[in-house]
Amino acid sequence: MSEASDTNNTSAMKGTNKTNGTSGDRAAAIEVRGLRKSFGELEVLRGIDITVRRGEVVCVIGPSGSGKSTLLRCVNLLEEPTSGTVRVAGSEVTDPEVDIDRVRRRIGMVFQAFNLFPHLTALGNLTIAQRRVLGRGKTEAEEVARRNLRRVGLTEKEASYPAQLSGGQQQRVAIARALSMGPDLMLFDEPTSALDPELVGDVLAVMRGLADDGMTMLVVTHEMSFAREVADRVIFMDDGIVVEEGSPDQVVGDPQHARTRAFLSRVLDPAAAEVLEGEPPPGPQPEGGHQEKRGHQEVPKQQPR
Ligand SMILES: Nc1ncnc2c1ncn2[C@@H]1O[C@H](COP(=O)(O)OP(=O)(O)OP(=O)(O)O)[C@@H](O)[C@H]1O
Ligand SMILES: [Mg+2]
Repeated sequence: MSEASDTNNTSAMKGTNKTNGTSGDRAAAIEVRGLRKSFGELEVLRGIDITVRRGEVVCVIGPSGSGKSTLLRCVNLLEEPTSGTVRVAGSEVTDPEVDIDRVRRRIGMVFQAFNLFPHLTALGNLTIAQRRVLGRGKTEAEEVARRNLRRVGLTEKEASYPAQLSGGQQQRVAIARALSMGPDLMLFDEPTSALDPELVGDVLAVMRGLADDGMTMLVVTHEMSFAREVADRVIFMDDGIVVEEGSPDQVVGDPQHARTRAFLSRVLDPAAAEVLEGEPPPGPQPEGGHQEKRGHQEVPKQQPR
């Protein structure tokens, strides 16, 4: 497909993401229509419509439990939508006939937890899926892996095991691993929220570099400065719907809805908001079933031996 070459060619657009007025004309990389998802009685997504065009960076923000992760997981069918359609690069993911493995190979996914194989080096973590899923030979897989380790600034760490790397380095290995599969688009689910504050910057810098290279990215994040600087569009979700959507300057800088304003004031100034509203700031909630589901995302599906 031509997407792969687009990704490389758009480096000429470096820094133009936010001002590019042509994104409306570009082909849709992700198209979500009327998406609903229930877990038992609980309707978590209540009719979501979003479009991410090729080369666009879209950040999704919203309170804990609003359905952001579920939305991302529906895009690559880690969760099966209850109704609605999801198209990725023209293929309807929700079509029962679709070859979902083929579609998934085009989507890189980076979670909050890095999901690296602990018994493999950084290089090993980057080559294993290339070899098993894409059938690449050792030499080619290592070449691609080294190129992507360089891209995330970890050339020196190829022989290190995950336990020998900082959280930020592990997350950059996870990004390089996703890139090594040659995805057309990347989904990020709060990639920096498990990191110590001093490690966040390096990971965001790598993501900014990908955006500059023209990678299509759908990013769930609480990093408002990243959203403001890098996103072409910001989507604010609450309670399973898209409340507000627009440029970062519109949504983060001049939100129109009270719910968006309340959320932003909690995120941008948690202490003040707590006093004003008598509510705790957003973030991990101490109780409720919601925390548990994180755990099962963190376990790699297949443990290679
Ligand atoms: N597998 C599941 N089974 C049952 N309920 C689930 C499951 N996954 C998510 N939920 C529920 O769906 C709702 C939305 O969860 P989701 O993880 O999408 O929220 P989120 O916006 O990503 O929150 P956070 O910012 O805390 O990550 C929550 O109420 C959660 O408890
Ligand atoms: Mg989440």
